[in-house]
Amino acid sequence: MGRVTALAFAARGANVVAADVAVAAGEETVALIGQAGGSARFVATDVSNGPAVRRAVQTAFDTFGGLDCAVNAAAIEIETAPLADCDEETFDRLVAVNLRSVFLCLKHEIKAMLAQGRGGAIVNIASTNSFRSQPNQAGYTATKHGVLGLTRAAAVDYAAAGIRINAVCPGAIETPILLGAIEARERDPRRSPADSACSAGSAGPTRSPKRCCGCAPMRQASPSDTRSPSTVATSPAKPSARTARRPGDAGPEVQRHRQGLPGSPEKREDA
Ligand SMILES: NC(=O)c1ccc[n+]([C@@H]2O[C@H](COP(=O)([O-])OP(=O)(O)OC[C@H]3O[C@@H](n4cnc5c(N)ncnc54)[C@H](O)[C@@H]3O)[C@@H](O)[C@H]2O)c1
Repeated sequence: MGRVTALAFAARGANVVAADVAVAAGEETVALIGQAGGSARFVATDVSNGPAVRRAVQTAFDTFGGLDCAVNAAAIEIETAPLADCDEETFDRLVAVNLRSVFLCLKHEIKAMLAQGRGGAIVNIASTNSFRSQPNQAGYTATKHGVLGLTRAAAVDYAAAGIRINAVCPGAIETPILLGAIEARERDPRRSPADSACSAGSAGPTRSPKRCCGCAPMRQASPSDTRSPSTVATSPAKPSARTARRPGDAGPEVQRHRQGLPGSPEKREDA
């Protein structure tokens, strides 16, 4: 989703700094932007590391003269078992990469935007797990609840400075984080029986990253907007929250999981 978002920004004329711990993939994203006629720079960044995040933000200043928008999308999902079987290292890693990272990114992005004095917009990618859990995702769910908490707190703190801070809460999107988590759980004999409903079942139909993130970056959610298959949690600058859903295309991994479900996820009415 980070790549699709970066490409969408670049397509609309933004200069992009792509920051990721995955160097080859990050450089590929920058190359794709360049091939499309855009301008981008990659910075190898572990988002759980404060100085590294500060460097990435500084790169936006040094290379492109400032920072107006930021999307904080990096995360991992490495759990394969119910809470009591989740080891401390796994939980700590989830908190570092999924939650501490958002704190660090917000901190440095907000400081940069305040220094510029012309406001800005920040979007954190949370999850439907920010509102409810799914089997074998206690740590991930806790971090995604935390991302909403940070988003709400920061939005209140900086609305007066003209910095809009929102969260997008996707359902199941066919990306490496989802497919990797499903496959890892399939291999783990400790997983709970409820895991047959994991990911696809509780989160609803899966969608492609482009359908989730390819829409106009940073636009505000409007009541008539049904393009984004996500919940959008908005800052006080525009208080509203809604969910828009539509059927998506399920990939083979997720379809396999659906076969164990008592009913089709599409028939669910949860949102
Ligand atoms: N795919 C889904 O079904 C789904 C559903 C809800 C929410 N989300 C959220 O959407 C966001 C984007 O995920 P995605 O689906 O594109 O997954 P993805 O695995 O394709 O992307 C995650 C990215 O985070 C990067 N990353 C991991 N650890 C990092 C670290 N320490 N420092 C810097 N970068 C790091 C990875 O290299 C990868 O590029 C995540 O926050 C995820 O939790 C995804």
